[in-house]
Amino acid sequence: MIKVAPSMLAADYLNLGSEIDKVIASGADVLHYDVMDGTFVQNISFGQEILKKVSKKPIDVDVHLMIQNPEKQIKSFAEAGAKYITVHQEAAGFGLKDTLKKIREYGCLAGVSVKPYTMVSSLKEVIHDVDMILIMTVEPGKGGQKLIPFTVDKVKEVYRMCREEGVSPIIEVDGGVGMETAHLVTEAGADMLVAGSAFFKAEDPKAFVEALKKMPTPAE
Ligand code: DX5
Ligand code: ZN
Repeated sequence: MIKVAPSMLAADYLNLGSEIDKVIASGADVLHYDVMDGTFVQNISFGQEILKKVSKKPIDVDVHLMIQNPEKQIKSFAEAGAKYITVHQEAAGFGLKDTLKKIREYGCLAGVSVKPYTMVSSLKEVIHDVDMILIMTVEPGKGGQKLIPFTVDKVKEVYRMCREEGVSPIIEVDGGVGMETAHLVTEAGADMLVAGSAFFKAEDPKAFVEALKKMPTPAE
C-alpha cells in the first residue's frame, strides 16, 4: 500500500501541536519535515530545535534537508529525533556517499533527493546506499505549486533503475501531490507521497489519506 507523508510546511504554525495530532489521526504514515536554509533554496523554514519538540509526537519524522553542506547537520537532526533524513544530491556533491553512510551510522534511514532538472542517472552510484529516493515534482523551496508533468517520467526511470539494480528503496514524491495527481506518480512507481497543501486543505484528512493509500501501483 502507498504511504502518505503530510508536510508540516503547510500546517498552521500557531497551532502546531493540534496540526500534528490531525496528521496522526488521519492515519498518515510519517510527518514530512522540510528544512530550508535560504541558500540551497530561497526560503528559511525550521531547524533542529523545533524538531526536538515535534519528534516527541508518536509519528515518525521524515526530514527533507533542502540545505547546502548537509553533512554538517546530520548528527544534530538525528539527535533531534529524525527517523528518515534525506539530502539533496545537488547540495551534497562529491561527499554524497559519505553523507548517506553517516545518516545510517546515526541510526536513521538515508534518503537522497533530486530536483526536477537533475538527471536521475546521477543516483546510480548511490542506489545501493539509500533507503529512500525522493523525486521532487516541483522546484524545492515552497509549498502549493503545481506538479511539473515531465517529472512523472523521472519516477518511472528511478523505478526501472531500482529493479534493474535489484534494490527496492522507498520511492517518495514531493510537490503538487493531491487527489488529481497522486495516481500519475503511483502508477509510475512512487510508494510514498508527500502532501502539504492538499492534506491541510482537505475537508476530511482521513478520507484524503485513505484515498491516497489506495492509488494504483505500476502495472506488472
Ligand atoms: C517543497 C517541499 C514540499 C512541500 C510540498 O519544497 O519540499 O515538501 O511542503 O508542498 P505541496 O504538497 O503543497 O506541493
Ligand atoms: Zn519536502
